[in-house]
Amino acid sequence: MSEAMTTVVVVYHSGYGHTEQVARHVALGAAAVPGVVVADMPVTAPDWALLEAADAIIFGSPVYMGSVSAPFKQFMDDTSRVWLRQGWQDKLAAGFVNSGALSGDKQVALQQLQTFAGQHGMLWASFPLQPTGTGPDDLNRLGSNSGLMTQADNDDPVLTPPRGDRLTAELFGRHVAERALRWRRGA
Ligand SMILES: Cc1cc2nc3c(=O)[nH]c(=O)nc-3n(C[C@H](O)[C@H](O)[C@H](O)COP(=O)(O)O)c2cc1C
Repeated sequence: MSEAMTTVVVVYHSGYGHTEQVARHVALGAAAVPGVVVADMPVTAPDWALLEAADAIIFGSPVYMGSVSAPFKQFMDDTSRVWLRQGWQDKLAAGFVNSGALSGDKQVALQQLQTFAGQHGMLWASFPLQPTGTGPDDLNRLGSNSGLMTQADNDDPVLTPPRGDRLTAELFGRHVAERALRWRRGA
């Protein structure tokens, strides 16, 4: 990673490919911001050096039993070594959660991510995108502002989450990347 570039890392878990699709679109949106380089990685194979070098880290998890998934929680616990020396302090943080039901208790999982970022002394970026409606092609149809929420039917991850959620994910990635750029310039 170039010293001159602002780096955004998307670290996510996906058991069946749906949250991975969201992660890809988040990364796509972030990468569209000039001056920003993006890396994405599954929580099962974290690149600790890359995470350490990041200006912003975006965390993503599916909702399993009203919580972040077990592999995501394992990743959280594995960061305790970083926590001990507050290695991620003052990085920007943001989060996204994907579930099967329209609600599915996504807010709980998002709050887990937010609390996790707080434990690391990170600064949480929210998501001020006004919903355009509640249909599958709408932006922020689930009306979340504390992070990105998406919903996937029990179908092929190529088809679901729907188009509006994918576009929303791109706008979310762009939003966080733009804030990371500003935050780094001010450092
Ligand atoms: C073990 C398990 C628990 C789940 N619990 C919830 C839940 O609490 N709420 C919900 O809406 N969906 C729940 N789901 C559905 C997933 O959130 C949904 O299928 C999601 O798209 C999976 O993402 P993934 O393909 O990235 O793993 C659960 C799925 C699994 C496998």
